Amino acid sequence: MPGFERHMFICTNQRDIDARTSCGHKNSRALKDAFKDAVKAAGLKGRVRAQESGCLDQCEHGPTVVVYPEGVWYGFVQLSDVQQIVDEHLVGGKPVERLRIADSCLNNSQCPHQPKR
Ligand code: FES
Repeated sequence: MPGFERHMFICTNQRDIDARTSCGHKNSRALKDAFKDAVKAAGLKGRVRAQESGCLDQCEHGPTVVVYPEGVWYGFVQLSDVQQIVDEHLVGGKPVERLRIADSCLNNSQCPHQPKR
């Protein structure tokens, strides 16, 4: 049996409310369930694996999702975005540009989404 063509991680990490923001406070568990359902409905079960993950260290962009092997990072993903990501990226092979986290924001402590210190 061949391996997965794509692997999708949906951060469901939830911190204490007073700590750094976290995806778990932004409905990411429901997002994970919606992705799993949509992947299955698209007939991708066994080809694409969608699963929850711990913190992906892009908390200020959450809910955060990453798709490998391309390494496409999505941020601020909402339930209303799930079907478009599945249809266009996972089925069609074309990432949804409007939802991508800009390269200039990834792992950048000076990113405008970071809290002001
Ligand atoms: S809590 Fe989701 S990326 Fe950190």
